[in-house]
Amino acid sequence: MTKKRATPSSKNTAGLRPEESVRVLITDARVKARLKQLAREIRRDFPTEPLHLISVLKGSVFFLTDLARELGGEVSFDFLSVSSYGHGTDSTGEVKLIKDLDVSIEGKTVIVVEDILDTGLTLKYLLRFFEEKKPKHLRVVVLLDKVERRIADVRADYTGFVIPNEFVVGYGLDFDERYRNLPDVCVLQFASRGKAKSA
Ligand code: PRP
Repeated sequence: MTKKRATPSSKNTAGLRPEESVRVLITDARVKARLKQLAREIRRDFPTEPLHLISVLKGSVFFLTDLARELGGEVSFDFLSVSSYGHGTDSTGEVKLIKDLDVSIEGKTVIVVEDILDTGLTLKYLLRFFEEKKPKHLRVVVLLDKVERRIADVRADYTGFVIPNEFVVGYGLDFDERYRNLPDVCVLQFASRGKAKSA
């Protein structure tokens, strides 16, 4: 039996270059359906609590805005930006804070919203950083989890999809800042070189 191929959700190819191609991994519709389930899971754990969502720029922006609208009740959000040195298996795990939070998280129920969990080094740094600020609860929701790439011993509390070790773009994820506006989560491939290297 041949496996049904996911078809793009729209004609938006995000300026695809001739030497690059994309294959749909998770359609926008599947993402949106999964977000409804994730929102229900989170609200099951915190039915009446105000939730403070923290988005790690920039990849998780669409995920945050879509998830926030699925969560009923009181929701606020904030943004933070980090850069990591030498992502990959030889990484030192050093992470630099580029933009700090705007408001205190002390005593709040914080949900860290990440687009992708890869080596886990960024999340490990962030969890330590947030814990020092004494939130009431600290939970993590990730859209995509590349479990097989993990180096740091961290896990998300809520996971959208476990994905294989392929270079993914779209729905906020980029290659050289491009393709964030692709509606679907796609695998990026180069015509001449085969698959793009790592994520
Ligand atoms: C991605 C993602 C995480 C990090 C995960 O950010 O948003 O923050 O990588 O990788 P790790 O588990 O190996 O630490 P990226 O550096 O691509 O920045 P962006 O969100 O601005 O695209």
